[in-house]
Amino acid sequence: MENPFEDRLRFERRVPPCAIVIFGANGDLTQRKLIPALYRLAYERRFPPGIAIIGNSRTPMTDDQFREKMREAVQKFLEDSPFDVDLWNDFAKGLFYCSGDIGDPAMYAGLKVRIAQVAEERGTAGNVLFYLSTQPSQYIPVVQNLGAVGLNNSAGWTRIIIEKPFGHDTESSNVLHDAVRQVFRESQVYRIDHYLGKETVQNVLAFRFGNGIFEPLWNRRYVSHVQITAAESIGVGSRGGYYQEAGALRDMIQNHLLQVMATIAMEPPAVFEPDAVRDERAKLLRSIRTLKPEDVATHAVAGQYGAARVGGEDALGFRQEKGVDPESQTNTYAAMTFFVENWRWAGVPFYIRTGKRMPKRVTDIAIQFNDAPHSVFVDAPIMSRSGRGPNLLILRIQPEEGISLRFRSKQPGAGMRLRPVSMDFNYGSSFGERSPSAYETLLLDAMAGDSTLYTRQDMVDASWKAVQPVLDVWSETKHHFPNYDAGSWGPQASEEMLQRRGHTWRVP
Ligand code: BG6
Repeated sequence: MENPFEDRLRFERRVPPCAIVIFGANGDLTQRKLIPALYRLAYERRFPPGIAIIGNSRTPMTDDQFREKMREAVQKFLEDSPFDVDLWNDFAKGLFYCSGDIGDPAMYAGLKVRIAQVAEERGTAGNVLFYLSTQPSQYIPVVQNLGAVGLNNSAGWTRIIIEKPFGHDTESSNVLHDAVRQVFRESQVYRIDHYLGKETVQNVLAFRFGNGIFEPLWNRRYVSHVQITAAESIGVGSRGGYYQEAGALRDMIQNHLLQVMATIAMEPPAVFEPDAVRDERAKLLRSIRTLKPEDVATHAVAGQYGAARVGGEDALGFRQEKGVDPESQTNTYAAMTFFVENWRWAGVPFYIRTGKRMPKRVTDIAIQFNDAPHSVFVDAPIMSRSGRGPNLLILRIQPEEGISLRFRSKQPGAGMRLRPVSMDFNYGSSFGERSPSAYETLLLDAMAGDSTLYTRQDMVDASWKAVQPVLDVWSETKHHFPNYDAGSWGPQASEEMLQRRGHTWRVP
């Protein structure tokens, strides 16, 4: 029986034994994130005996060749953790490989036999966690094939983790959902959004609902607007082919950043239980105003980076990247203004922006509070030169992890000269311990049957609904790309979008 509430606050997560079957085991995500996270969990002694990992991909490999390949991946991608040879040798005994084409129904009969053998050998108690880390076009065939051989119901529990993207638009997301629910019950389905697993995003919940002093300010009476920025300095690298079909709005805003916004703006859940938390997130996402097509031009901005000199070196433009159409209309930058139609947030703009090839990698959330209604300090006008009031709360998601509150202080000396200063909390110096990666947290949660940090189909639907009008208008628009230089903060039109309401983007 699945009981996700055994350890509600997740201190001593008790993980049962299980087999983890990874489809797409030769891919980038498996090597960069999944296997290093699983190894790290073993390193932290978070696993019971009886864990087995079965990789599948088309490339023929023996178990030993797979183990060798995964060892190289762990050594290459394991961040901030030592590689322990003895531990690895033990961990590697639980790694198995089953080659075969995921489009071939016969492969699943073989996989079923392999899962049974491994269950016997490792003592997985018949529990199976599937992980879909393949091309999204393969999701439906894999799910159907699993159902056809009865792999949707193992002797123990069976769960399936699905990586984003959940569809390409509202319609295809529903098609995927329908196909999945023919085979798996909703309680078996774990749609992963790795942003929700980040410690700093989870901390937004702790910050908001574990303290009494911020929540009274957390509404339209005190908040002027919210800015969410997720900037990446890298380009699209080897992912040009995928990215060209997706673009920044689909790749980051529809999923990660709307989930972050939901975490910032949702109502307090009554209890910290999966569906109580997810109900509140879903409610918030459903309250986002749907744009009319005629409002898209003033509420959304698309950008694409062009070639430029960055840090003394020539950087390619998106259209020159490998696998990208030289006339590509794909957005590598997207910014949107959202409004939440409820009593707490009516009239407060939530600005979200994301882009590749920005000046630096930074993700943060800035809550801009209203100005003081009147300044008694004649020489110290309330507004700063940037047009922003002094009170700003910044939740730093990455790479810096912490929280800063900016306020005005008296500058030492004669007279009343005021200057903005900040009060800072920093994870590293306050806790001095390593934060688990998002994938460590989320994999452990799925194994323990806790879906709090996973997305539900109603949230996926609501997020598509929030961006669909923009996708529709943009698909009919001939964009004048490139419209920002690699290494810059994005197109001018994005500044103009904020200026219409008297706001400016802060420089993170
Ligand atoms: C992925 C996107 O979901 O998130 C990538 O597909 C993006 O394009 C990545 O680079 C960002 O994740 P993180 O954790 O590095 O901020």
